Amino acid sequence: MYHSKKKKDGLLSYQDDACHVYGFEVEKLLQDNHPIKVFQVRSKQDHNVKKVIKTYFKDNTDVDQITTRQFMAEISVLTKIHHPYVMGMDTMGIFPGYFAYVMPLYETGTLTEALPTMNQEKSDEYLVQLCAGLKFLHRHKIAHRDVKTDNVLITAKEKRVVIADFGLSEILTTIDTPVSTIKGTHMYISPEQFIQKEFNAFKCDMYALGVVYWCMVFKVDVFDLKSSEQMKESVNTLCDTSIDWLVLTNLLDPSPVDRLTCYNLLCVLEQPEYRFSERIASLRGNGKMFY
Ligand SMILES: Nc1ncnc2c1ncn2[C@@H]1O[C@H](COP(=O)(O)OP(=O)(O)OP(=O)(O)O)[C@@H](O)[C@H]1O
Ligand SMILES: [Mg+2]
Repeated sequence: MYHSKKKKDGLLSYQDDACHVYGFEVEKLLQDNHPIKVFQVRSKQDHNVKKVIKTYFKDNTDVDQITTRQFMAEISVLTKIHHPYVMGMDTMGIFPGYFAYVMPLYETGTLTEALPTMNQEKSDEYLVQLCAGLKFLHRHKIAHRDVKTDNVLITAKEKRVVIADFGLSEILTTIDTPVSTIKGTHMYISPEQFIQKEFNAFKCDMYALGVVYWCMVFKVDVFDLKSSEQMKESVNTLCDTSIDWLVLTNLLDPSPVDRLTCYNLLCVLEQPEYRFSERIASLRGNGKMFY
């Protein structure tokens, strides 16, 4: 996108201002997706203290309304939700020219970056953690609406996943409240969003979770595919009695009615005949899942 020099200078000064306000200095730009900018910072006092600041530039255009809505959506979720598999927020601010919030730095990066070295142990662990995180969000009637490997971050120490980027999320009145806006990222958008006038946002998240799990099972970024048909074809190469086939066939089912909810998916995975059962039992034992 073209920006005038003035606008570029403006963006730079907001970045500096956000850092100054919170006592940080910029270390690295992580994403520049105008009007949203994400950058890694470190404390001026202690260089070992590292954080991430996400800024929403306000440029007094129509885009502002969307930006404001996205920022408000993120903040409403991040202030309400505290869960080991959902991203945390440290602080936020509303300034004349921009919005900003500070969050922990998840040093291992995104799930997309972890795909090439993925193994079954890790993908099993991450699937269960993502289910637990999403189940918690859905229980609070929060639909994420942009679940994808780029929006899943990995912690440095225990290699835990956290669901991030709530810019498209919706807090609904009930678990059955229909929505009508197509949201998400290409390849992760469930088919019913293009066909039906109204649909269930939580089931849309489940389809996207299916795509994330597909990426982990096949160690491939879904954007490397030409179409979602290719994704379905590769699922059919799996043994049709395996749990991976069962999960992927169900979550990627074009019919949202038949698609499992997070709660039901965890119940299936918990069955003693499947390799996930012990992980779920230990998670349940830690009390991390059933708040
Ligand atoms: N806390 C964090 N720790 C480490 N990396 C992060 C963090 N937050 C964001 N990132 C990196 O910055 C990228 C963009 O962040 P985020 O998804 O919040 O912004 P966005 O502009 O809403 O993205 P998009 O619209 O492309 O999904 C992430 O995909 C990730 O690579
Ligand atoms: Mg994102």
